[in-house]
Amino acid sequence: MRKKLVAGNWKMHGSLQANAALLERLKAGMPGLQCEVAVCAPFPYLAQLQALLASTQVRWGAQSVSEHVSGAYTGEVSAAMLCEFGCRYVLVGHSERRSLFGESDAVVAAKFVAAREVGLVPILCLGETLAEREAGATAAVVSRQLDAVIDRAGVAALASAVVAYEPVWAIGTGVTASPAQAQEVHAAIRKRVADLDAGLAEGLRILYGGSVKPQNAAELFAQDDIDGGLIGGAALVADDFLAICQAAG
Ligand code: PGA
Repeated sequence: MRKKLVAGNWKMHGSLQANAALLERLKAGMPGLQCEVAVCAPFPYLAQLQALLASTQVRWGAQSVSEHVSGAYTGEVSAAMLCEFGCRYVLVGHSERRSLFGESDAVVAAKFVAAREVGLVPILCLGETLAEREAGATAAVVSRQLDAVIDRAGVAALASAVVAYEPVWAIGTGVTASPAQAQEVHAAIRKRVADLDAGLAEGLRILYGGSVKPQNAAELFAQDDIDGGLIGGAALVADDFLAICQAAG
């Protein structure tokens, strides 16, 4: 039985004051939740998360990481630095990184490797655009993105990673994939991993992301291959995020 994970992706939102208020509400809502809960914040707030969450069940992480260990990479943040701030998770390959910051499949794979090398758990984001879906290319795109990481890191590396299926057309749009649409892709991802290592695939957590709301979370999380969610907009509203966590059990 895979333990569900609900991870918030704050994107480039927040302030010290707003974060403190949000985290207080989250901490207060944790008792009774069965799922694992995490928040992924902008880099400057990781120290705040470490201070406020260290003695709680809420885990935290970053939204990106450099593929390099150290060196002359102005503006970059290394995986080892994230560890110093107690991060457990880091998003890699979020569609906004891919589309707005030019991260190729190869760069995403390198970031995945850099994260794992220091013991961070990468949350590998995969997903097709609307044009790709309409062209019937969803499975091919998601497989290509996944294979880039498997080819580079080896399938065994997925044992200490999480996958998030986030159709680009559902992110921040209010349009959610239907539970059946999401389940179909999740099952295909698990099958692709199972073809290489069945046992590993059985334990792999595959999150769904893209306009998850309190109203649609329970039905999505009830699908066989949906093991939680990666939550953007609704993660900034304590009541909504907690309601989504409750839907995950
Ligand atoms: P959304 O974002 O929940 O606002 O659609 C999800 C994400 O980008 O991870």
